[in-house]
Amino acid sequence: PDGVHPAWLPPEAFRAIGSRRTLVRGDGPLVDTVRDEVTLACVRYGGRVRHPLPGGRDGPGPPPDLVLALRSAGPLPAVAETVLAGFGAIGDEGFVVARHDGVTVVLADEPAGLLYGLFHVVRLGERAFGAAVPAEHHRPATRRRMLDHWDNVDVHPVMGQVERGYAGGSLFWRDGVLREDLSRVRAYGRLLAACGVNAVAVNNVNVHATEASLLTDRLGDVAAIAAELRPYGIRVHLSVRFSSPVVLGGPPTADPLDEDVRKWWAAVTERVYARIPDFGGYVVKADSEGQPGPFTYGRSHADGANALADALEPFGGVVHWRAFVYDHRQDWRDRATDRARAAHDHFVPLDGLFRGNVILQVKHGPMDFQVREPVSPVVAAMPATRLAVELQVTQEYTGQQRHVCYLAPMWSDVLGFRPWGPAGPAVARLAAGAAGDGGGLVAVSNAGDDPYWTGHPLAQANLYAFGRLAWAPGADPATILDEWIDLTFAPSAPGGLERLRPTLHAIMDDSWRTYERYTAPLGVGFMVRPGHHYGPDVDGYEYTPWGTYHFADRDGVGVDRTRATGTGFTGQYPPPWSEVYERLERCPDELLLFFHHVPYGHVLRNGSTVIQHIYDTHFAGAEQVAEARSLWERLAGTGSVDPALHARVKALIDEQLRCAEEWRDQINAYFFRKSGVPDAHGRRIP
Ligand code: GCU
Repeated sequence: PDGVHPAWLPPEAFRAIGSRRTLVRGDGPLVDTVRDEVTLACVRYGGRVRHPLPGGRDGPGPPPDLVLALRSAGPLPAVAETVLAGFGAIGDEGFVVARHDGVTVVLADEPAGLLYGLFHVVRLGERAFGAAVPAEHHRPATRRRMLDHWDNVDVHPVMGQVERGYAGGSLFWRDGVLREDLSRVRAYGRLLAACGVNAVAVNNVNVHATEASLLTDRLGDVAAIAAELRPYGIRVHLSVRFSSPVVLGGPPTADPLDEDVRKWWAAVTERVYARIPDFGGYVVKADSEGQPGPFTYGRSHADGANALADALEPFGGVVHWRAFVYDHRQDWRDRATDRARAAHDHFVPLDGLFRGNVILQVKHGPMDFQVREPVSPVVAAMPATRLAVELQVTQEYTGQQRHVCYLAPMWSDVLGFRPWGPAGPAVARLAAGAAGDGGGLVAVSNAGDDPYWTGHPLAQANLYAFGRLAWAPGADPATILDEWIDLTFAPSAPGGLERLRPTLHAIMDDSWRTYERYTAPLGVGFMVRPGHHYGPDVDGYEYTPWGTYHFADRDGVGVDRTRATGTGFTGQYPPPWSEVYERLERCPDELLLFFHHVPYGHVLRNGSTVIQHIYDTHFAGAEQVAEARSLWERLAGTGSVDPALHARVKALIDEQLRCAEEWRDQINAYFFRKSGVPDAHGRRIP
């Protein structure tokens, strides 16, 4: 669409394909998408799409450079048969790619696989047409790779239109109605398919009155969005209110065991599928932060989730039931209540009681998307439940898309974490499920109607990286960043990427750790302004009911979550982590204050004291932002990035530096005043 940045799919990314001869073989809507993409590229760059003759024979003319074919579309060109020889099932979304006898061949069992294969060739660009390459089999680690939008139809008085959205308004709704022009939704679907996402929940998990009716009266909105996303293999899901029967004119109760309630859900769901046959299912935030849930009726979360699951089951739909259930009205004086424990306490006893089409959606950390948290122990504690791990691409607690914070290294750590130690499976495997049919990965999207999609242009990399990691959790974050740089910037940088690539790596690779350095220290979390969560406010949440405390006093800081003397949270982990986190001398430095309350003079494993570490990291973090800023400034006028994009990033880095210095000074001043311990290097602390 006009005036919208093409993100990682600028037209030039299709040059390599568009200037060649391609044969597309197969039928079905997604194959049509592949054919349309190739045709469009060829129109632009002078290549040809060869059409098979009726009966499956290939048309006349020189042989193709690229074959994109469904295995079932036979008889296939000889080169494709050669590549396929010896291959069993390629899988629903997988593809085989090879370069053989001067032809690049992409083969799939199903149309979705062909679409992903096409985007793989786009990523390779000219490299796809170089030397011979033996057949490689690509397929996603998990079937479920989903983005949740926290979009509202209306503009919410406090949260705005997109809750925790930092990229403008919703891509779907405007002025209280579905947008007339949905071409951006289609373009969004195309971007998502190109990084591997295949499901989108369209509305906020906090379901307000207007949005509740998306399930019934406003179902047409959802159907229209689904129609735009379908050509890119993306299914839509809907966040629903647990009390929907009551608020949408059904029975006067939402008791999940009430026969009328169950009938109501069954009937409503049937109507959804009549309209949207490939509808994905429901997302539910229940008994959480004021949302209604089964507790109102004395029922369990298994009862609640299963009622909706039963309604969806005949149509193959799933319920994403969120595990983010905790007491947001706790007494801050009560040190025994620990929000970190809540999801495990609530849900682990229910393991085995959920229907097969319930997916328990667990935030990756036990608290709430902080810059540093341990992995949620729930992930390892429910072997009989399908679990999805939820990440936050939108940067609520990581700089709100005003700060550069490339999150792939954090997600990569989470996905690679092994709850039972080196011999056991990693989180990625637990989410994927043994056969790829686990709950998968879900993330809160960072996209909106901003011309750059994500507010901060460099935040596009987070959206891209989420999709790539959901497809291949073991992928290297720096390699993913290179893919994103190549796709996004190479075509528009006539001088090449010699300057831009190293600059972006220098600014982005370590930006998550930089953000960590200048914000809340050593895993303690929060210390943000209450409400909007931007910028520092060390005690902002300290005496509130939200369960997010650091307990700093004149002697020390941190939350004692040990079994020995604290809340016992460490006991929710299996060994070895139950021991590692429990024991002060074994606990990793970066999580020290998440698990322990220690004196300021406590010596870390890195040899520094807690207080000196706080000072050092805060000076260093702000300094790194200043360096990033001057690196970015030096790109000005070099022709390596579009001037408008350069200006946008520059303005944002200025703000990031201002904010990082504010963080540095507030945190350092706070701890200096509490502890009275001077900085060993005598730097100025205000
Ligand atoms: C955070 C966020 C809320 C959101 C909630 C959730 O607490 O601040 O805006 O609703 O997470 O994940 O449900």
